[in-house]
Amino acid sequence: MKNAIERAQILLEAFPYIKSFHGKVVVIKYGGSAMRSQEAQNAFIEDVVLLKYTGMKPIVVHGGGPEINHMMKKLRIEPVFKNGLRVTDEKTLEVVEMVLAGKINKNIVAAVNQKGGKAVGLSGKDDNLILAERETVHGDIGYVGRIVKINPELLFSLLNAGYIPIVAPVAFGLNGETFNVNADTAAAEIAVALNAEKLILLTDVDGVMKDGKLISVLTMSEVKGLLNDGTVTGGMIPKLQCAVKAIENGVHGVHIINGSLPHVLLLEIFSDEGVGTMITGR
Ligand SMILES: Nc1ncnc2c1ncn2[C@@H]1O[C@H](COP(=O)(O)OP(=O)(O)OP(=O)(O)O)[C@@H](O)[C@H]1O
Ligand SMILES: [Mg+2]
Repeated sequence: MKNAIERAQILLEAFPYIKSFHGKVVVIKYGGSAMRSQEAQNAFIEDVVLLKYTGMKPIVVHGGGPEINHMMKKLRIEPVFKNGLRVTDEKTLEVVEMVLAGKINKNIVAAVNQKGGKAVGLSGKDDNLILAERETVHGDIGYVGRIVKINPELLFSLLNAGYIPIVAPVAFGLNGETFNVNADTAAAEIAVALNAEKLILLTDVDGVMKDGKLISVLTMSEVKGLLNDGTVTGGMIPKLQCAVKAIENGVHGVHIINGSLPHVLLLEIFSDEGVGTMITGR
């Protein structure tokens, strides 16, 4: 058990961070892969509410890969991926929207509210938050969207009114389509549109790994190198691509951290201990 002085010391260590992030927008991508342990999930929700009460403006953008796969299996649809993106035919799209905007989004909203935060769940269709068009870079992968525009007004209104927005990465298209957009990319675009201080990507690995070792700090040119030399594959590709885009467009720091470690978010924000991989502009 810690004595009173030690406890006070811990709070004081957090003080400079609380001060410098006061009133700042922090966008947190909560990866589907990080949602597996109930303990880590509870800790994540507590951390988000705590960030809010210490004066930050957190926004959560969530993924849901494993849960979408699980539901697809139940419906006997085989998941297919190409370059870390889910190939999305009409049936898959239906499952994606149902699971992301229906199930996972509302579960997070309810959990945050239960801890005393005021959460509101949105998809990219609410007030035209995320406009996308068909992604064609990797050939035809169906209803996968490339984000064209973020309309941030609704997010600003919610943040200013003290709410914690929880965003499901489903976008609308100009011709009435629905698009499945990668949650990392959605988080990064939202971070840029809101001029966020930080973008934090919570996933199921400690960060970017090379030859079995964690890379703690990455510069922009190193990121580009890793993307080209094949070190990074699958779901890590969109993370690094969107990290580059976020930094190039004014977000101060991007962090990739392991969301399956309880309270990793607090460690990242309130301490000097470098957790995970930090991508910097220099
Ligand atoms: N060099 C690398 N370092 C670390 N992880 C890597 C690397 N290359 C590929 N990966 C893979 O990227 C995965 C993380 O991306 P993934 O899309 O699976 O999860 P997520 O984005 O957190 O969840 P979701 O897509 O459901 O939102 C890791 O589990 C790992 O298998
Ligand atoms: Mg992913």
